Amino acid sequence: MKVTVIGAGKYGSTTVQRIAQADIADEVVMLDIVEGLPQGLALDMNQSRPIERYETRVIGTNSYDNTAGSDIVVVTAGKPRSPGMSRMDLLEDNAKIVGDVAREIADSSPDAVVIVVSNPLDEMTALFQQVSGFPHGRVMGQAGMLDTARFQDKIATVLGVSPLAVDAITLGSHGDTMVPVPSQVTVDGALLRDVMDDSTIEELVSATRSGGAEIVALLKQGSAYYAPSSAAARMVRAVAADEGAVLPVCAWVTGEYGIEDVYLGVPARLGRRGVTEIVELDLTEAERTALREAAAAVRDKQADVASLV
Ligand code: LAC
Repeated sequence: MKVTVIGAGKYGSTTVQRIAQADIADEVVMLDIVEGLPQGLALDMNQSRPIERYETRVIGTNSYDNTAGSDIVVVTAGKPRSPGMSRMDLLEDNAKIVGDVAREIADSSPDAVVIVVSNPLDEMTALFQQVSGFPHGRVMGQAGMLDTARFQDKIATVLGVSPLAVDAITLGSHGDTMVPVPSQVTVDGALLRDVMDDSTIEELVSATRSGGAEIVALLKQGSAYYAPSSAAARMVRAVAADEGAVLPVCAWVTGEYGIEDVYLGVPARLGRRGVTEIVELDLTEAERTALREAAAAVRDKQADVASLV
């Protein structure tokens, strides 16, 4: 199993470390354009192996030659937000970067399953698929795992329970039309609405939507990477192990939820070939409407995105 991560910034390098430490790959290749950066980080990570007790080797490189024949590629390349910026403000700059990466990966790893995390997420995922020409099922984006984890953690913190007691899901876009789904949330098996009042639920939905911006504002430079890299590495594990796990991801929707031909956050079954099924949950009418609105909000930008490359 060969996994490549494009970008050795904080998100990329933390993702590499998490995948390596899971010991599911023979090697993890970390590519960056900055000379020495991925090589230095790789040496450092590999030297933690005897202590942490895992064998996966990290290879740092500036050349796509070393990524050839990857089974899974995670794309973190691109700029992060600064305080006050929306993810959409990154569209033009990151489209050029992700477009270049898509061409290189299409050449060097034509059979890879690709997980895009660059922002704006839904548009960059669509762009990668369009430029690479890969089948839609082999290109997905990471956002729903992260947004779901934020929702779970916020609920657990307010209720004073373990974050592991909260089961939740977040759909829609990784932006203003994110759709946290309270009707699907359970806390130790109980429905959320039975253990929390409506106005607190609404506050947490809105706090989840702005969860990324909250961290950007505090950091002042760069965006979140610990939880985002956990989410990306979890998806890599699901694909690598051909798990068939259903996870919230940005996937190509073709008629499910009454939504056609758009990349959108939905529950999807992941296996060795990528997304094998979009799972339709029993949503409330309001949630279905919100999901359709999210699709409408991202559809036009996705259709135009290749013109930016
Ligand atoms: C966030 C960025 C990574 O939500 O999109 O933190």
